[in-house]
Amino acid sequence: MLHLQLTLLSCLLVLATCKIQKQTPTNSWRDMLFGSKWLTPAPRWRESKFLPIFALVPIGPGSCSAPSGEQGNCIPSKDCVLRNGIPAGPCGGGYGVCCIFLQTCGGVIRENSTYFVNPNHPDVYDGTGSCQVTVQKLHPDICQLRLDLDMFSIAPPEAANHLCNQDQLLISGGSPTPTICGSSTGDHMYIDAGLGQSNPIVLSVITSASFPRLWRIRVTQIHCGSISRADQGCLQYYTAISGRVRSFNYNSVGGRQLSNQDYSICIRNERNFCGIQYNACPDLENNRSRSFTLTGNSNNPVATMVGGGGGMPPNLNGCTSDWLLIGCIRSADRIPPLPGCEDRVCGGTFSAEAGMLAKTVQSSVRPFRLYFHTDGVEAPNDIDNRGFCLDYVQQPCTNGF
Ligand SMILES: *[C@@H]1O[C@H](CO)[C@@H](O)[C@H](O)[C@H]1NC(C)=O
Ligand SMILES: *[C@@H]1O[C@H](CO)[C@@H](O)[C@H](O)[C@H]1NC(C)=O
Repeated sequence: MLHLQLTLLSCLLVLATCKIQKQTPTNSWRDMLFGSKWLTPAPRWRESKFLPIFALVPIGPGSCSAPSGEQGNCIPSKDCVLRNGIPAGPCGGGYGVCCIFLQTCGGVIRENSTYFVNPNHPDVYDGTGSCQVTVQKLHPDICQLRLDLDMFSIAPPEAANHLCNQDQLLISGGSPTPTICGSSTGDHMYIDAGLGQSNPIVLSVITSASFPRLWRIRVTQIHCGSISRADQGCLQYYTAISGRVRSFNYNSVGGRQLSNQDYSICIRNERNFCGIQYNACPDLENNRSRSFTLTGNSNNPVATMVGGGGGMPPNLNGCTSDWLLIGCIRSADRIPPLPGCEDRVCGGTFSAEAGMLAKTVQSSVRPFRLYFHTDGVEAPNDIDNRGFCLDYVQQPCTNGF
């Protein structure tokens, strides 16, 4: 009986301590940088500390999500504070706190899965200048960084040539990456981090003029031997039997295809799949689909163009300025298939043959890769192009591939 009373008493003491700590204002540099909105505790923060063991929560360390959506690390509260993390609610059945790591302008990333956020996050940032963070490898055996553009909205490219001349995301110190701007929430990039403790990678958001910017970029460090490492040379890497690939700043309503892009999108060849098919994404916003508009004036119907040659009147077929390259593509509806195949495709209609009809396109060149190229010029021939959005489905080896 006495034992039970003692236990109760210590519980109450713990609760009191919690309350006191909770009420102490945390007037740290983080509040100044990020405001204090994200600190809003989850409902039932305190009560959940005392949830019985049988509650349906994973117990112990591991990954966890903060109420504001960030992925965190479930660690004891004091470790989170020591590592300059931000405690964002309990986790692991009372094991610890969901510790998230945020950095903004001038910060150094020293923890896996740290978020690079705009100043004043989650509010918008309307300042100008260069906001950069430096990423330090956690270990010499880190070969890649994966950047997840969890939230990404900076000023769009200008209207005539679609150049990012107001705002830009620049990545230096790693493999070459295209400069991007506009909105690309949900997109990702892999950066080759080189071998050993080489130069740190610097992520910069350069801004000029007024715009309500918002960004939250998750930086994950990938071991050289990790199964989640992307293939060499892939800026984007997808690992599912079906999925969607799209260009940066794609949006069928107002998105502008970015100029000066040069990168590969890779799709991991899943076991027992030998081919791949692509279709332009459904476009529910426009009467005529704009989900593949690379060259020409997309305010009018524009045919498919294929191959690298041509471009001379009267035969305008050929992709010499902006194109998507997929190895040996054919239209899937031809039975038997056409003997020849194409590599480059452009224009305003997605197909593997010149014409006004959108078609399913297939390829059996492995590994599955798309290469996207745009030059630095749009006007006067290329107008209002959105870029591309394609749905892909890998095809089983038994399907004639
Ligand atoms: C970083 O975290 C991811 C999962 O969030 C994990 O797959 C990866 O192995 C971690 N990297 C290191 C270097 O620990
Ligand atoms: C689609 O067509 C209708 C009828 O021609 C027109 O009123 C509407 O504005 C068009 N919508 C778009 C998004 O172009």
